[in-house]
Amino acid sequence: MSSAAATPNGTGPLGPIRRLDEIDSTNRYALDAARAGAAPGLVVVADHQTAGRGRLGRTWEAPAGASLLVSVLLRPTIRLEAMHLLTMAAGLAMADAVEAVAGFAPTIKWPNDLLAGDRKLAGMLTEAEVVDGEVTAVVVGIGVNVMWTDFPPEIAETATACNIVAGRAVSRDELLDAFVARYGARLVDLDAVPEDYRARLGTLGQRVRIELADGTFEGEAVGVADDGSLEVRTGPGATRTVTAGDVVHLRPA
Ligand code: BTN
Repeated sequence: MSSAAATPNGTGPLGPIRRLDEIDSTNRYALDAARAGAAPGLVVVADHQTAGRGRLGRTWEAPAGASLLVSVLLRPTIRLEAMHLLTMAAGLAMADAVEAVAGFAPTIKWPNDLLAGDRKLAGMLTEAEVVDGEVTAVVVGIGVNVMWTDFPPEIAETATACNIVAGRAVSRDELLDAFVARYGARLVDLDAVPEDYRARLGTLGQRVRIELADGTFEGEAVGVADDGSLEVRTGPGATRTVTAGDVVHLRPA
C-alpha cells in the first residue's frame, strides 16, 4: 500500500474528552460539534445512547453503563483513498487497548468488528461531513461491550463482552484511556496500519458468506486490497471484491 501522506489530525495527542451521561448518538454529537467548528481530536464518550447508530443503517443498543461508547472527531488531510485507514487504525487501537486492559486479544472481522472467539465484542461506524465535495470532518465511532450481565435474545448467541471473556470486571475508563493513547499514536503512523490490520484480521483464509443488499454468496476470503475492500475467491480463478456488506465466518465444511 502506498503512503497515506500528510497527517490525519493536526492536533497531536487526542483530546479533550467530553463525557456525557446520555445522548442520542456520540457520532451525531461529534458531527454536529464539527459543523460548529470543534477542533480535531475531540473525543466524545457517553454512558448511554438513546439512538446509537450502527453500520448499514442499523441501530446500536446497549444498556446504560454496559459499553464503552466513544466517537473521535478528525479533520484529515490525507487522500480520500486512504480514509479507510482511519477506521482500521481505530480498530487496531481498540484491539490493543482491550489486550492491555482486559488481558485477551480480540481479532478483527472484516471490515471493522472486533471478535472474541466467534462472538462480536465491538463494532465501528465512521461518518464524514462533506462540504462542496471536500471531507471537512470524519467521526470514528466505536461501541465496545465491556460490562454486560446478559444479552437480549436477538444477540445472545452472537455477542460477548470484555467481562465475560476476561472472567472479571473491566473498567470502561481504563479502556477509554488505553484506546485514546493508542489511537493517537496510530494516527501519526498510518503507513503501518495495513500490515498490522491484516495480521489481526481473523477473516483471511476463512470460508465466508457475504451478505449484500441484493443477495449473498460464499467463498474463501483471500485478501484485503489497498482500498480496504475484501477479496473473496468464489471458484477456481474467480474472485469477487466486496466494498460494503456483512461477512459471516462459516465453519469449515
Ligand atoms: C456496527 O454496526 O457494528 C457499528 C456500531 C457502532 C456503534 C458506535 S457506539 C459509539 C458511536 N456512536 C454511534 O451512534 N455509533 C457508534
